[in-house]
Amino acid sequence: MSDRLEDIAAAIVAEGKGLLAADESSGTIKKRFDVIGVESTADSRRDYREMMFRATEAMKNYISGVILYDETIRQEGADGTPLVDLIKASGAIPGIKVDAGAKPLAGFIGDTITEGLDGLRERLADYYKLGARFAKWRAVIDIDTGRGVPSATAISSNTHALARYAALCQEAGIVPIVEPEVLMDGSHDIDTCYEVSKATLIKLYDELHAARVVLEGTILKPNMVIAGRKSGKTNSPDEVAEKTIKLFRQTVPVAVPGIAFLSGGQEDEEATANLNAINAIGPHPWKLTFSYGRALQAAPQKAWGGNRSNVAAAQAAFTHRAHMNHLAALGEWKASLEQAA
Ligand code: 13P
Repeated sequence: MSDRLEDIAAAIVAEGKGLLAADESSGTIKKRFDVIGVESTADSRRDYREMMFRATEAMKNYISGVILYDETIRQEGADGTPLVDLIKASGAIPGIKVDAGAKPLAGFIGDTITEGLDGLRERLADYYKLGARFAKWRAVIDIDTGRGVPSATAISSNTHALARYAALCQEAGIVPIVEPEVLMDGSHDIDTCYEVSKATLIKLYDELHAARVVLEGTILKPNMVIAGRKSGKTNSPDEVAEKTIKLFRQTVPVAVPGIAFLSGGQEDEEATANLNAINAIGPHPWKLTFSYGRALQAAPQKAWGGNRSNVAAAQAAFTHRAHMNHLAALGEWKASLEQAA
């Protein structure tokens, strides 16, 4: 495979393919395992992820790349094969989460700043040797309008950090996935999500330009425009699609080859239906696909439950969600296909 940034970015958003976000930190994966009653150990985390990476049909046909966590990129499967080699053998590209998580932003109650820039140049060189050809950095923008969250400072600090991260990635030959996540946890309505996402993306592309990041060698990983969970409102896929595309037309340069959404707490089918609606109102100047964590993994986690004898069922559940999202990336998904499975 070519090592040009533009070619890697194009491969990440290849027609009908998307990313598997399997980069949960040890703290986050423990929370997911708690739900299914599995103890989180280095071996159980390995077994679980190896199960997905060995789901050949899904990995070959629907998954362009996998975002890994530091532990996983160094792990070997039960038979000694490096997990990175399993991913590469399926034709998918290994990627790596490189941020160190969101911490409280000093002086701004309710805002966070994502850390991890110190020593990043050296870590990227190490990850490149381990096989990573793209990376991910997640900035977290919460919405709590009553408290003035997010502040302008939270947006400028987080997008500045994203730009510094992206420049370092490109220097290392690694495609930066730039993720400014406007959370859908709050009680805000869809128009507030639109406004905060717009302010964030305008500032983000300002910062990326200032940092001399080559947009053709980047991928944007955004939230969809959607009401906060605590608002009690659900938006139709058509409304989400219309407002999300309106937002991108106003803010995302067409030099960006692709946009790969996070699922952010949407239900599995909701995330698929919304992605499908977004693609159904195309054509668009960018590829629009998935980079889902929870919306790809909730079903296989439940089916697996930490039990070896459930591996085939868990792989089938993962393959089904990957297939449905593949169709949504093409705008060809239908709700009836969910029942059929
Ligand atoms: P979710 O799809 O579960 O939001 O995770 C995607 C991700 O990588 C968040 O950083």
